[in-house]
Amino acid sequence: MFDSGVGGLTVLAALRRILPDAPVIYAADLAGLPYGKKTEAEVAARVCGLLGRMAERYHPRLICIACNTASTIALGMVRDVLEIPIVGTVPAIKPAAAMTRSGVIGLLGTEATIRQSYVDNLEREFASDKLLLRHAAPGLVDPAEAKLRGNPVDATQIERAVAGLLERPRANEIDTVVLACTHFPLLRDELQSVLGRDVALVDGAEGIARRIVALTEGQPFARSEPDSAITTGAFGQFERLARELAKLGIDEIREF
Ligand code: DGL
Repeated sequence: MFDSGVGGLTVLAALRRILPDAPVIYAADLAGLPYGKKTEAEVAARVCGLLGRMAERYHPRLICIACNTASTIALGMVRDVLEIPIVGTVPAIKPAAAMTRSGVIGLLGTEATIRQSYVDNLEREFASDKLLLRHAAPGLVDPAEAKLRGNPVDATQIERAVAGLLERPRANEIDTVVLACTHFPLLRDELQSVLGRDVALVDGAEGIARRIVALTEGQPFARSEPDSAITTGAFGQFERLARELAKLGIDEIREF
């Protein structure tokens, strides 16, 4: 399970609920965080390179890229170079389009995600009869990282990060918001207070977990060592996540 930081833990939580026996290595590219501010070429090179090296070292039977930015940019390339199933995380526009009653959907993602043609294609395929208001909210990534390390969340920072969405024409009709960055569900309560209690917040975690179950169906799982988390970044920063990681059954923390 791969992400730039702690965001992928929202996908891991969903996976644990339906596939508790699968051994998992959680990989956080903290040295590369935030992906949302990088160019397409930078993200693609980083993700392909790291996943190639990780696959060689750990021999996973499946990789989940639990990051919308990495998936919308590099999913195809990673699939081309690795011969194992790769499950991506892409904005949950399809379920949001099925849920909205007003026909106006908000989408919060990183700067890089919201400009991807992958998102244009999802919009064309599933929401062509809806109004999709995309908004880059990079200011939500750091508070999500900090929250999981036990720091308080500053509500004004969350308000500031989504203000631009709420200022758009017809924003008052938004009844569904796609959380198109895996970090954002970690701030679900805070976002719900800013966006309004009646707004449905949709993310892809459950769907991704179901996809992993489908792709590993019938395969036996046996754990020979504790599940671990690895990082490319500062170990001290990563260690502060130990309690949250333990809640998800990850008992060992290592440097990559
Ligand atoms: N978790 C990543 C995503 O889903 C984004 C965080 C970052 O900017 O690295 O897009």
